[in-house]
Amino acid sequence: MGGTGTVIVHPCACVKGRLRVPGDKSISHRIAMLSALARGESVIRGFLLGEDCICTLRAMESLGAGVMLDGGTVRVSGIEGEWRAPSAPLDLGNSGTSMRLLAGLLASRPFTAELTGDDSLLSRPMARIRSPLELMGARLELLGRLRPDAGPIRISGGRLKAIEYRMPVASAQVKSCVLLAGLFAEGVTRVIEPAPSRDHTERILNMLGVPVSVDGPCVELSGFGARGPALNARSWTVPGDISSAAFWLAAAAMLPGSSVVVEGVGVNPRRSGILDALRRMGAGLSIESGVPAPGGEPVGNVAMSGSGLRGTEVAGVEIPNLIDELPVLAAVAAAAEGVTVIRDAAELRRKESDRIACMARNLAALGARVEEKPDGLVIRGGAALRGGVTIDAFQDHRIAMSCAVLALAAGAPVRITGVSCVDTSYPGFWDHMRSLGANVEEDNRN
Ligand code: S3P
Repeated sequence: MGGTGTVIVHPCACVKGRLRVPGDKSISHRIAMLSALARGESVIRGFLLGEDCICTLRAMESLGAGVMLDGGTVRVSGIEGEWRAPSAPLDLGNSGTSMRLLAGLLASRPFTAELTGDDSLLSRPMARIRSPLELMGARLELLGRLRPDAGPIRISGGRLKAIEYRMPVASAQVKSCVLLAGLFAEGVTRVIEPAPSRDHTERILNMLGVPVSVDGPCVELSGFGARGPALNARSWTVPGDISSAAFWLAAAAMLPGSSVVVEGVGVNPRRSGILDALRRMGAGLSIESGVPAPGGEPVGNVAMSGSGLRGTEVAGVEIPNLIDELPVLAAVAAAAEGVTVIRDAAELRRKESDRIACMARNLAALGARVEEKPDGLVIRGGAALRGGVTIDAFQDHRIAMSCAVLALAAGAPVRITGVSCVDTSYPGFWDHMRSLGANVEEDNRN
């Protein structure tokens, strides 16, 4: 899809089919970074070849790793302690995970590197990683081209000391940033979150033989000093991304008569809050077990059938377990009976777009009854959703895909602009939507 991308999504009575979604984005980033540090060649199957993770691969190449794409498999040859100082700023595109985790890795390097990206990434808060990394001994300058506490980041690494860090907000990116820096510090690094967030970094480090202990919201590891840990390359299989599967599971739950199975999806409890929320709304959901789970992550085939949904409430410690799925949950809520309340989710305003404002605007454009709150949304479902309108995805991949799901339940076709961004996390999204029976046209008028 060229340019900024526009599609017309037609209403659809139900969705049916069985598919596999691309690999998990969070896991792909972390395996790419840690494989780049290891000795030897790591073989990664199921790696997400979306724009965000490609930015991470390119950055690791600039730092001295070897990267080969071999069909759907990625081979990464590790730096083995021979880091190269990058000769130009590392361009991380739209990817917050790349910027925040890489900053953690670079905090201990005895050179200066600059991390940059697109306007969305350069609008995202980075003071949240500067505080802990400076306490550990690195120096971070936030060059703030578009806003004061944001990138580009100029980072000058140094000798790191371990810290105990109490995070003001739950964030797996900040937690992982501090843990990755902690690998290169002397002593025990401890991070305490207000609520536990996704734990992929912890699991991958454990698989690589680096003990990480987790006690509720408190995570700690012992550092290895300036040379870092001696990691050995290995092979990995990345599970399907539950954040991508969520679009089809939500569509199936919302449209009575639907039946969809997504195979080989990661069902880590720190990521599967969307399944719990849909279940509470009355969705017919089952997880086929017995799927092999190499790589330390639970995996399953998730089956969903459509039925009439009712509203629910999501708040508190549940939020980090479904933070990226809240936009699609809001879409489904508009088609459910009764009220859905999303609270304690102010972080949604700091993502690739202000996802509270963008979803409120698009839901209202389709005739849903929605109230925007500082930390969430209140959606009164059951109103007929009209079509025949144009809405904008604001160049945010999850807004684009959530609105496409919403459009399936509308009364007439919906035109969505600014959708080329879906490639950041889900190349092949529109083909998958068609394979489940939906009618999506590319609109080349713009
Ligand atoms: C991610 C953590 C979350 C999530 C993002 C990916 C990760 O962000 O929204 O899509 O891979 O660690 P925060 O850490 O900002 O909550």
